[in-house]
Amino acid sequence: QIGGVTLTREEVVRQDDPTNNVPDSVFSKIGLQLHRRPDHPLGILKNEIYSFFDEKFPAGLFRKFDDLSPVVSVKSNFDDVLVPPDHISRSYNDTYYVDGNTVLRCHTSAHQAQMLRDGLTHFLVTGDVYRRDAIDATHYPVFHQMEGFRVFSESEWKDTGLDGTDLAVKDLKETLEGLAKRLFGNVEMRWIDTYFPFTNPSFELEIFFKEKWLEVLGCGVTEQEILKSNGQSGKVAWAFGLGLERLAMVLFDIPDIRLFWTSDPRFTAQFKAGQLGTKFKPFSKYPPCYKDISFWITDAFTENNLCELVRDVAGDIAEEVSLIDQFTNKKGISSHCYRITYRSMERSLTDEEVNAIQDKVREEVAKQLQVTLR
Ligand code: PHE
Repeated sequence: QIGGVTLTREEVVRQDDPTNNVPDSVFSKIGLQLHRRPDHPLGILKNEIYSFFDEKFPAGLFRKFDDLSPVVSVKSNFDDVLVPPDHISRSYNDTYYVDGNTVLRCHTSAHQAQMLRDGLTHFLVTGDVYRRDAIDATHYPVFHQMEGFRVFSESEWKDTGLDGTDLAVKDLKETLEGLAKRLFGNVEMRWIDTYFPFTNPSFELEIFFKEKWLEVLGCGVTEQEILKSNGQSGKVAWAFGLGLERLAMVLFDIPDIRLFWTSDPRFTAQFKAGQLGTKFKPFSKYPPCYKDISFWITDAFTENNLCELVRDVAGDIAEEVSLIDQFTNKKGISSHCYRITYRSMERSLTDEEVNAIQDKVREEVAKQLQVTLR
Protein backbone atom coordinates (compact mmCIF):
# COMPACT_ATOMS: atom_id res chain seq x y z
CA GLN A 1 0.00 0.00 0.00
CA ILE A 2 1.69 3.20 -1.14
CA GLY A 3 -0.15 6.46 -1.62
CA GLY A 4 -3.38 4.48 -1.54
CA VAL A 5 -2.24 2.08 -4.29
CA THR A 6 -1.39 -1.58 -3.74
CA LEU A 7 1.63 -2.96 -5.55
CA THR A 8 1.37 -6.71 -6.02
CA ARG A 9 4.21 -9.16 -6.36
CA GLU A 10 2.94 -10.16 -9.80
CA GLU A 11 3.40 -6.59 -11.00
CA VAL A 12 6.90 -6.11 -9.65
CA VAL A 13 8.68 -9.51 -9.68
CA ARG A 14 8.55 -11.40 -12.96
CA GLN A 15 11.25 -14.01 -13.05
CA ASP A 16 10.36 -15.23 -16.53
CA ASP A 17 10.57 -11.74 -18.04
CA PRO A 18 14.11 -10.88 -19.19
CA THR A 19 13.39 -7.14 -18.85
CA ASN A 20 12.73 -7.65 -15.12
CA ASN A 21 15.50 -8.02 -12.54
CA VAL A 22 13.65 -7.40 -9.27
CA PRO A 23 14.24 -10.26 -6.81
CA ASP A 24 11.79 -11.24 -4.08
CA SER A 25 14.22 -10.04 -1.40
CA VAL A 26 13.92 -6.51 -2.79
CA PHE A 27 10.21 -6.66 -3.47
CA SER A 28 9.66 -7.60 0.18
CA LYS A 29 11.06 -4.21 1.23
CA ILE A 30 8.64 -2.15 -0.87
CA GLY A 31 5.99 -0.52 1.26
CA LEU A 32 7.81 -0.89 4.59
CA GLN A 33 8.54 2.87 4.49
CA LEU A 34 10.93 3.00 7.45
CA HIS A 35 11.12 6.78 6.97
CA ARG A 36 7.46 7.09 7.98
CA ARG A 37 7.93 5.49 11.41
CA PRO A 38 8.26 8.33 13.92
CA ASP A 39 10.25 6.19 16.42
CA HIS A 40 12.64 4.80 13.82
CA PRO A 41 16.03 6.53 13.40
CA LEU A 42 15.17 7.31 9.76
CA GLY A 43 11.80 8.78 10.73
CA ILE A 44 13.35 10.79 13.55
CA LEU A 45 15.96 12.21 11.16
CA LYS A 46 13.37 12.98 8.48
CA ASN A 47 11.19 14.84 10.97
CA GLU A 48 14.15 16.82 12.28
CA ILE A 49 14.96 17.99 8.75
CA TYR A 50 11.30 18.83 8.15
CA SER A 51 11.32 20.94 11.35
CA PHE A 52 14.46 22.73 10.22
CA PHE A 53 12.72 23.79 7.00
CA ASP A 54 9.55 24.79 8.83
CA GLU A 55 11.57 26.99 11.16
CA LYS A 56 13.98 28.53 8.67
CA PHE A 57 11.18 29.24 6.18
CA PRO A 58 7.52 30.05 6.81
CA ALA A 59 6.03 26.83 8.21
CA GLY A 60 4.50 24.73 5.45
CA LEU A 61 6.18 26.67 2.62
CA PHE A 62 8.07 23.52 1.73
CA ARG A 63 5.51 20.89 0.79
CA LYS A 64 6.40 17.43 2.06
CA PHE A 65 5.88 14.13 0.27
CA ASP A 66 6.90 10.79 1.70
CA ASP A 67 4.38 8.35 0.26
CA LEU A 68 5.12 8.43 -3.47
CA SER A 69 5.41 5.05 -5.17
CA PRO A 70 9.00 3.90 -5.76
CA VAL A 71 7.86 2.31 -9.03
CA VAL A 72 8.51 5.02 -11.62
CA SER A 73 9.05 5.31 -15.35
CA VAL A 74 12.50 5.23 -16.92
CA LYS A 75 11.54 8.66 -18.20
CA SER A 76 11.05 10.10 -14.69
CA ASN A 77 14.04 8.39 -13.16
CA PHE A 78 16.52 9.19 -15.93
CA ASP A 79 15.32 11.15 -19.00
CA ASP A 80 13.48 13.94 -17.16
CA VAL A 81 16.59 14.67 -15.08
CA LEU A 82 18.87 14.58 -18.13
CA VAL A 83 20.78 11.40 -17.30
CA PRO A 84 22.60 10.62 -20.58
CA PRO A 85 21.39 7.58 -22.56
CA ASP A 86 24.67 5.72 -22.03
CA HIS A 87 25.11 6.56 -18.31
CA ILE A 88 26.08 3.46 -16.27
CA SER A 89 23.37 4.12 -13.70
CA ARG A 90 20.86 3.03 -16.36
CA SER A 91 22.37 -0.46 -16.69
CA TYR A 92 20.70 -3.64 -15.51
CA ASN A 93 23.74 -4.11 -13.31
CA ASP A 94 22.98 -0.94 -11.33
CA THR A 95 19.22 -0.42 -11.45
CA TYR A 96 16.19 -2.62 -10.78
CA TYR A 97 13.93 -2.76 -13.83
CA VAL A 98 10.31 -3.80 -13.50
CA ASP A 99 10.12 -3.82 -17.30
CA GLY A 100 11.87 -1.99 -20.14
CA ASN A 101 10.09 1.29 -19.32
CA THR A 102 9.73 1.03 -15.55
CA VAL A 103 12.23 0.97 -12.69
CA LEU A 104 12.41 1.08 -8.92
CA ARG A 105 13.59 4.68 -8.47
CA CYS A 106 17.33 4.90 -7.84
CA HIS A 107 17.03 8.41 -6.42
CA THR A 108 14.30 10.76 -5.24
CA SER A 109 15.26 13.10 -8.10
CA ALA A 110 12.89 10.87 -10.09
CA HIS A 111 10.04 13.06 -8.77
CA GLN A 112 11.45 16.49 -9.61
CA ALA A 113 9.86 16.91 -13.03
CA GLN A 114 6.37 15.81 -11.99
CA MET A 115 6.42 18.13 -8.96
CA LEU A 116 7.39 21.03 -11.22
CA ARG A 117 4.65 20.16 -13.69
CA ASP A 118 2.24 20.19 -10.75
CA GLY A 119 3.31 23.78 -10.15
CA LEU A 120 5.20 23.15 -6.89
CA THR A 121 8.05 25.53 -6.16
CA HIS A 122 9.19 24.45 -2.66
CA PHE A 123 9.18 20.76 -1.81
CA LEU A 124 10.83 17.92 0.11
CA VAL A 125 10.40 14.36 -1.14
CA THR A 126 11.45 11.47 1.10
CA GLY A 127 11.40 7.86 -0.02
CA ASP A 128 12.98 4.45 -0.32
CA VAL A 129 15.36 4.16 -3.27
CA TYR A 130 16.81 1.05 -4.87
CA ARG A 131 20.28 0.29 -6.26
CA ARG A 132 22.02 -2.94 -7.11
CA ASP A 133 25.27 -2.92 -5.18
CA ALA A 134 27.83 -4.80 -3.10
CA ILE A 135 27.08 -6.31 0.32
CA ASP A 136 28.77 -4.80 3.35
CA ALA A 137 28.12 -2.80 6.51
CA THR A 138 27.23 0.40 4.64
CA HIS A 139 25.55 -0.90 1.47
CA TYR A 140 22.09 -2.30 1.18
CA PRO A 141 20.03 -2.54 -2.03
CA VAL A 142 17.29 -0.39 -0.51
CA PHE A 143 18.00 2.87 1.29
CA HIS A 144 16.28 6.21 1.83
CA GLN A 145 16.81 9.65 0.39
CA MET A 146 15.36 13.10 0.80
CA GLU A 147 15.17 15.50 -2.10
CA GLY A 148 14.81 19.23 -1.54
CA PHE A 149 13.86 21.73 -4.22
CA ARG A 150 13.33 25.48 -4.32
CA VAL A 151 12.31 27.60 -7.31
CA PHE A 152 13.03 31.34 -7.45
CA SER A 153 11.21 33.88 -9.63
CA GLU A 154 12.94 36.84 -11.18
CA SER A 155 11.44 39.22 -8.64
CA GLU A 156 13.45 37.41 -5.95
CA TRP A 157 16.87 38.19 -7.44
CA LYS A 158 16.10 41.46 -9.28
CA ASP A 159 16.94 43.76 -6.37
CA THR A 160 19.72 41.68 -4.81
CA GLY A 161 22.45 42.73 -7.24
CA LEU A 162 23.04 39.01 -7.93
CA ASP A 163 22.00 37.07 -10.99
CA GLY A 164 19.60 34.18 -10.52
CA THR A 165 22.25 31.48 -10.40
CA ASP A 166 24.37 33.32 -7.85
CA LEU A 167 21.34 33.90 -5.64
CA ALA A 168 20.41 30.23 -5.86
CA VAL A 169 23.96 29.12 -4.98
CA LYS A 170 24.09 31.52 -2.05
CA ASP A 171 20.71 30.47 -0.70
CA LEU A 172 21.45 26.77 -1.28
CA LYS A 173 24.73 26.88 0.61
CA GLU A 174 23.31 28.94 3.44
CA THR A 175 20.32 26.64 3.81
CA LEU A 176 22.34 23.44 3.78
CA GLU A 177 25.05 24.76 6.09
CA GLY A 178 22.24 25.65 8.50
CA LEU A 179 20.81 22.17 8.17
CA ALA A 180 24.20 20.54 8.78
CA LYS A 181 24.68 22.69 11.91
CA ARG A 182 21.26 21.68 13.14
CA LEU A 183 22.07 18.01 12.73
CA PHE A 184 25.75 17.88 13.67
CA GLY A 185 26.37 20.98 15.79
CA ASN A 186 29.28 23.29 15.19
CA VAL A 187 31.36 21.21 12.80
CA GLU A 188 33.84 22.20 10.12
CA MET A 189 32.35 22.04 6.62
CA ARG A 190 33.63 22.23 3.08
CA TRP A 191 32.09 22.41 -0.39
CA ILE A 192 33.44 20.17 -3.15
CA ASP A 193 32.72 20.80 -6.82
CA THR A 194 31.21 17.77 -8.47
CA TYR A 195 29.03 16.68 -11.37
CA PHE A 196 25.38 15.69 -11.59
CA PRO A 197 23.51 15.56 -14.90
CA PHE A 198 20.63 17.63 -13.46
CA THR A 199 22.49 20.50 -11.79
CA ASN A 200 25.13 23.01 -12.80
CA PRO A 201 27.07 24.07 -10.86
CA SER A 202 27.00 20.98 -8.64
CA PHE A 203 28.44 20.52 -5.16
CA GLU A 204 28.90 18.05 -2.37
CA LEU A 205 28.84 19.16 1.24
CA GLU A 206 31.31 17.47 3.55
CA ILE A 207 31.60 17.82 7.31
CA PHE A 208 34.55 17.00 9.54
CA PHE A 209 33.17 14.50 11.99
CA LYS A 210 35.06 12.06 14.20
CA GLU A 211 38.40 12.86 12.56
CA LYS A 212 37.10 12.21 9.05
CA TRP A 213 35.58 14.16 6.16
CA LEU A 214 32.10 12.77 5.62
CA GLU A 215 30.03 13.40 2.50
CA VAL A 216 26.63 14.63 3.62
CA LEU A 217 24.73 15.40 0.43
CA GLY A 218 24.80 16.32 -3.24
CA CYS A 219 23.21 19.47 -4.60
CA GLY A 220 23.35 22.23 -7.17
CA VAL A 221 21.54 24.71 -9.36
CA THR A 222 18.97 22.95 -11.51
CA GLU A 223 19.67 22.76 -15.24
CA GLN A 224 17.51 25.31 -17.10
CA GLU A 225 16.29 22.60 -19.46
CA ILE A 226 14.51 20.82 -16.59
CA LEU A 227 12.68 24.00 -15.56
CA LYS A 228 11.77 24.88 -19.16
CA SER A 229 10.47 21.42 -20.01
CA ASN A 230 8.25 21.38 -16.94
CA GLY A 231 6.43 24.69 -17.07
CA GLN A 232 8.88 26.85 -15.09
CA SER A 233 10.56 28.97 -17.79
CA GLY A 234 12.30 32.11 -16.62
CA LYS A 235 12.92 30.68 -13.15
CA VAL A 236 16.02 29.50 -11.33
CA ALA A 237 16.08 26.64 -8.82
CA TRP A 238 18.27 24.68 -6.46
CA ALA A 239 18.02 21.01 -5.57
CA PHE A 240 19.68 18.71 -3.07
CA GLY A 241 19.56 15.00 -2.32
CA LEU A 242 20.73 13.38 0.89
CA GLY A 243 21.00 9.78 2.02
CA LEU A 244 19.20 9.26 5.32
CA GLU A 245 21.04 6.05 6.36
CA ARG A 246 24.46 7.58 5.87
CA LEU A 247 23.56 10.47 8.18
CA ALA A 248 21.63 8.35 10.66
CA MET A 249 24.51 5.87 11.01
CA VAL A 250 26.73 8.73 12.10
CA LEU A 251 24.18 10.59 14.24
CA PHE A 252 22.95 7.53 16.12
CA ASP A 253 26.20 5.50 16.05
CA ILE A 254 24.55 2.68 14.10
CA PRO A 255 27.35 0.37 12.91
CA ASP A 256 25.59 -1.78 10.32
CA ILE A 257 23.04 -0.68 7.71
CA ARG A 258 21.04 -3.89 8.12
CA LEU A 259 20.06 -2.82 11.63
CA PHE A 260 17.61 -0.28 10.17
CA TRP A 261 15.57 -3.22 8.92
CA THR A 262 15.51 -5.32 12.07
CA SER A 263 12.42 -5.64 14.22
CA ASP A 264 14.53 -6.83 17.18
CA PRO A 265 13.29 -4.74 20.13
CA ARG A 266 16.87 -4.47 21.40
CA PHE A 267 17.30 -2.14 18.43
CA THR A 268 13.89 -0.55 17.93
CA ALA A 269 13.25 0.22 21.62
CA GLN A 270 16.37 2.40 21.81
CA PHE A 271 14.87 5.23 19.72
CA LYS A 272 12.08 7.67 20.44
CA ALA A 273 10.31 10.24 18.27
CA GLY A 274 11.94 13.65 18.51
CA GLN A 275 15.19 12.32 20.00
CA LEU A 276 17.82 12.91 17.37
CA GLY A 277 21.22 11.46 18.08
CA THR A 278 20.49 8.98 20.88
CA LYS A 279 23.60 6.81 20.77
CA PHE A 280 22.87 3.23 19.87
CA LYS A 281 24.15 0.77 22.49
CA PRO A 282 25.25 -2.34 20.62
CA PHE A 283 23.82 -5.55 21.92
CA SER A 284 26.14 -8.50 21.87
CA LYS A 285 26.89 -9.59 18.35
CA TYR A 286 26.36 -13.20 17.47
CA PRO A 287 29.39 -14.98 16.03
CA PRO A 288 30.01 -14.78 12.28
CA CYS A 289 30.39 -17.82 10.09
CA TYR A 290 32.68 -17.62 7.05
CA LYS A 291 32.27 -19.68 3.90
CA ASP A 292 34.44 -19.44 0.81
CA ILE A 293 33.33 -20.12 -2.72
CA SER A 294 35.66 -20.33 -5.75
CA PHE A 295 34.78 -20.50 -9.41
CA TRP A 296 36.04 -19.88 -12.93
CA ILE A 297 34.31 -16.79 -14.29
CA THR A 298 33.23 -15.70 -17.76
CA ASP A 299 32.78 -12.16 -19.07
CA ALA A 300 29.13 -12.33 -18.06
CA PHE A 301 30.07 -12.45 -14.38
CA THR A 302 29.51 -9.36 -12.21
CA GLU A 303 29.97 -8.96 -8.49
CA ASN A 304 26.56 -7.28 -8.13
CA ASN A 305 24.91 -10.39 -9.56
CA LEU A 306 26.73 -12.59 -7.07
CA CYS A 307 25.82 -10.33 -4.14
CA GLU A 308 22.20 -10.26 -5.10
CA LEU A 309 22.09 -14.02 -5.48
CA VAL A 310 23.65 -14.43 -2.03
CA ARG A 311 21.16 -12.03 -0.53
CA ASP A 312 18.31 -13.79 -2.28
CA VAL A 313 19.31 -17.17 -0.86
CA ALA A 314 20.48 -16.05 2.58
CA GLY A 315 18.44 -12.91 3.23
CA ASP A 316 19.75 -10.47 5.82
CA ILE A 317 22.10 -13.00 7.41
CA ALA A 318 24.45 -12.29 4.49
CA GLU A 319 26.68 -9.71 6.13
CA GLU A 320 29.45 -9.36 3.59
CA VAL A 321 30.71 -10.80 0.32
CA SER A 322 34.34 -10.03 -0.41
CA LEU A 323 36.80 -11.08 -3.08
CA ILE A 324 39.73 -12.67 -1.23
CA ASP A 325 41.70 -14.22 -4.10
CA GLN A 326 41.87 -14.19 -7.88
CA PHE A 327 44.22 -15.42 -10.57
CA THR A 328 44.24 -16.19 -14.28
CA ASN A 329 45.47 -19.55 -15.59
CA LYS A 330 47.62 -20.22 -18.65
CA LYS A 331 44.56 -20.46 -20.86
CA GLY A 332 43.50 -16.96 -19.79
CA ILE A 333 40.58 -18.12 -17.65
CA SER A 334 40.16 -16.29 -14.35
CA SER A 335 39.26 -17.76 -11.02
CA HIS A 336 37.66 -15.78 -8.20
CA CYS A 337 37.39 -16.77 -4.58
CA TYR A 338 34.82 -14.94 -2.46
CA ARG A 339 34.43 -15.11 1.29
CA ILE A 340 30.84 -14.86 2.45
CA THR A 341 30.25 -13.75 6.02
CA TYR A 342 27.02 -15.03 7.50
CA ARG A 343 25.78 -13.52 10.73
CA SER A 344 22.37 -12.91 12.17
CA MET A 345 21.54 -9.77 14.10
CA GLU A 346 19.01 -11.74 16.07
CA ARG A 347 20.37 -15.17 16.97
CA SER A 348 23.21 -17.68 16.76
CA LEU A 349 23.33 -19.55 13.48
CA THR A 350 23.81 -23.30 13.57
CA ASP A 351 26.42 -25.08 11.43
CA GLU A 352 23.70 -27.10 9.76
CA GLU A 353 21.69 -24.12 8.61
CA VAL A 354 24.73 -22.22 7.32
CA ASN A 355 25.94 -25.31 5.47
CA ALA A 356 22.53 -25.74 3.91
CA ILE A 357 22.49 -22.09 2.83
CA GLN A 358 26.00 -22.32 1.43
CA ASP A 359 25.07 -25.45 -0.54
CA LYS A 360 22.10 -23.60 -1.96
CA VAL A 361 24.32 -20.61 -2.82
CA ARG A 362 26.74 -22.93 -4.66
CA GLU A 363 23.89 -24.56 -6.53
CA GLU A 364 22.35 -21.23 -7.61
CA VAL A 365 25.74 -19.73 -8.50
CA ALA A 366 26.42 -22.65 -10.83
CA LYS A 367 22.92 -22.41 -12.30
CA GLN A 368 22.52 -18.64 -12.71
CA LEU A 369 25.93 -17.01 -13.07
CA GLN A 370 27.48 -18.97 -15.97
CA VAL A 371 30.55 -19.81 -13.90
CA THR A 372 32.22 -23.13 -13.14
CA LEU A 373 32.53 -24.02 -9.48
CA ARG A 374 35.93 -25.25 -8.34
N1 PHE B 1 20.14 12.41 -7.04
C1 PHE B 1 21.48 12.60 -6.55
C2 PHE B 1 22.01 11.24 -6.03
O1 PHE B 1 21.24 10.35 -5.81
C3 PHE B 1 21.56 13.62 -5.44
C4 PHE B 1 21.21 15.01 -5.90
C5 PHE B 1 19.91 15.50 -5.84
C6 PHE B 1 22.19 15.85 -6.41
C7 PHE B 1 19.60 16.77 -6.26
C8 PHE B 1 21.90 17.12 -6.84
C9 PHE B 1 20.59 17.57 -6.75
O2 PHE B 1 23.20 11.05 -5.84
